[in-house]
Amino acid sequence: MKIANTADEAYAHIDHWRREGQRIGLVPTMGALHQGHLSLATRSCQECDITAVTIFVNPTQFGPHEDFSRYPRTLEQDLKMLQELGVDLVFTPSNERLYPNGYSTYVSPPDVAKPLEGVFRPGHFRGVATIVLKLFQILPANIAYFGQKDFQQLVVIQRMAEDLNIPIRVVGCPTVRESDGLAMSSRNRYLDPKQRFAAASLWKALSAAQQMLLEGNREVKQLEEVMQQTLYREGAEKIEYARVVDSHWLTDLTTVDRPAVALIAAYVGSTRLIDNIMLETSQKQRHS
Ligand code: PAF
Repeated sequence: MKIANTADEAYAHIDHWRREGQRIGLVPTMGALHQGHLSLATRSCQECDITAVTIFVNPTQFGPHEDFSRYPRTLEQDLKMLQELGVDLVFTPSNERLYPNGYSTYVSPPDVAKPLEGVFRPGHFRGVATIVLKLFQILPANIAYFGQKDFQQLVVIQRMAEDLNIPIRVVGCPTVRESDGLAMSSRNRYLDPKQRFAAASLWKALSAAQQMLLEGNREVKQLEEVMQQTLYREGAEKIEYARVVDSHWLTDLTTVDRPAVALIAAYVGSTRLIDNIMLETSQKQRHS
């Protein structure tokens, strides 16, 4: 497995493989890898000849009071796991290399970045869109894999790729969950045992909304209410949003009369967790 610390080195590897006609998969991450990340890399290894993973805790997507400095960094362990999977290239640049003194160019993200996370984490998607576009330039892959756990991020990146004619196919991959439904996340490491138990409230709330919809209730207000009630009952402490929106544009809905997604951001202790579910309107669709 090759390790590149500079953009030039990483680009040279990808360029070489592209000239050989190899199909290249890219998995951008911030490290602290878990089964969710590994499922993305595994899928890339299955579908592509070459898999490149990036590990970079991107400072521009964190707000001033967010967890940038305490975000878990486990590089040695991450590299071991990627090597075992058969990943070909890992790009691990420093902040100074990607954002040198005088850096001042940022991507203005598409409108789908405005609601939900956009309200509670102003500037977050500007940072995400900027770093992802930089990574797409440095590692011009054929396919890039992102987790559906960060559903809005996936939609923002897909929209950006389409709007800016980026010749990389952006693929969303299913969320990997613990046995009680908690979506895997690097931030789950912040939870103590009691909080870890309460963290399952997000999946319970999403499942309650899904169940209500399957029983025939399509009223978005009521689906959102059941999510709020379930979250508080099951131990979430502060809800930022528990919403049902159009899954393509992330716009408001009154009733579920088109493809919809339920999304939650809530705190358990001081840890902010997010999760979502693509809503199904019938059992038939659910199992197909
Ligand atoms: O999802 C993440 O880990 C990050 O937001 C990403 C896409 C690697 C950009 O820093």
